[in-house]
Amino acid sequence: MAIRTLDVAAIRKDFPIFETGIAYLDSANTSQRPRQVTGAMLEYFEKFNSNIHRAAYRIAEEATVRYEATREKVRAFINAASTKEIVYTRGTTEAINLVAYAWGRKNIKQGDLIVLTIIDHHSNIVPWQILAAEKDARIEYVDIDDRGELRRDQFAELLNRGPKLVAFNLVSNALGTINPAHEMVAAAKRVGATVLVDGAQSTPHQPIDVRALGCDFYAFSGHKMLGPTGAGILYGRREVLEAMDPFMAGGDMIKTVRVEETTYHDLPWKFEAGTQAIAEVIGLGAAVDYLNDLGMDAVRAHELDITEYAYEALSDVDGLTVYGPPPSRRAGVISFSLDGIHPHDLATIADRDQVCLRAGHHCAMPLMTRLGVAATARASFYVYTQKDEVDRLVSSIKEAQRIFA
Ligand SMILES: Cc1ncc(COP(=O)(O)O)c(C=O)c1O
Repeated sequence: MAIRTLDVAAIRKDFPIFETGIAYLDSANTSQRPRQVTGAMLEYFEKFNSNIHRAAYRIAEEATVRYEATREKVRAFINAASTKEIVYTRGTTEAINLVAYAWGRKNIKQGDLIVLTIIDHHSNIVPWQILAAEKDARIEYVDIDDRGELRRDQFAELLNRGPKLVAFNLVSNALGTINPAHEMVAAAKRVGATVLVDGAQSTPHQPIDVRALGCDFYAFSGHKMLGPTGAGILYGRREVLEAMDPFMAGGDMIKTVRVEETTYHDLPWKFEAGTQAIAEVIGLGAAVDYLNDLGMDAVRAHELDITEYAYEALSDVDGLTVYGPPPSRRAGVISFSLDGIHPHDLATIADRDQVCLRAGHHCAMPLMTRLGVAATARASFYVYTQKDEVDRLVSSIKEAQRIFA
């Protein structure tokens, strides 16, 4: 079946922020939100604002229905087997922390091995460091090769040591590298490891099928996929989630509470204590609808087209180093450095031209150390990115080079 081409001009009309004239090249950080998403949230606030799961009146019923409808949308979007496997969190960070606490504290023991990668985001490193310190467990990191791709020989060698947990991102936020996740999960499962995939940078940009992937946990954030901040997802295989104790405790995650003891709610609500981010979850549902209307194959194809264009344009600039693999094996993310110009200076000059560019360590300091740099500049793309925004970035880079010459 032919893949549709995105009508980017039409898409941009759904995003009022582009009327300001900015070239937004920081979608890996957080995406923009279309009117459909903010509209769904506004409708909740203006027409049926109320708490969910606990009121008997009509607007509370409406809020509950819309809140729970997102769960089915997300289930279908990532092809999970059941809505019981879809847990709402505030984002990827909270989802990974949930696993580190509720699964990790029960299952990781002294001397156990946890395998991570050098291209992981801090949110998939620090929770495991805290757990490892508490349990006297060990962490090993899979290194990268010169192209910024994971070293498979080293991954295989670490799997031979029988890790209890393997956790890695499907797409690196700092390099854009698309990891061979299906192979990696299958290999880790063969040695009996539990596997967590950080899907923060993959879910917004390519079709995802968690059952085909075969991982135990998969985490992502709504705000990187056109949704609002404050709503994210932990997917967990049902048997694994069933065997876990709650993460947070309080209202809504219980069945009965007596002064002596408490019984917990069924999945997925066992992991959703307290009043939830209702408007944000509803907004996330609208974002999933929006992406489904575009088609995730078309989203990936558009980003590949922009990435190839940007990769070539940036590679042509003298004194510019691009990090990471060629466009076909990377998502819409390009990290680079400029000889003699600090990424923050470049970002400041770009900002004068209304070009929004990220500069820094991208919450991947171990990777920066591995690359021998303190920071990089990073341009990242999404469904609304146009080639003329890349051209504006290249002009800003040339302007920076004139200023710092
Ligand atoms: C690969 C990756 N993992 C995790 C996160 C953390 O996501 P959040 O801050 O939404 O929890 C990010 C955010 O940049 C990311 O890129």
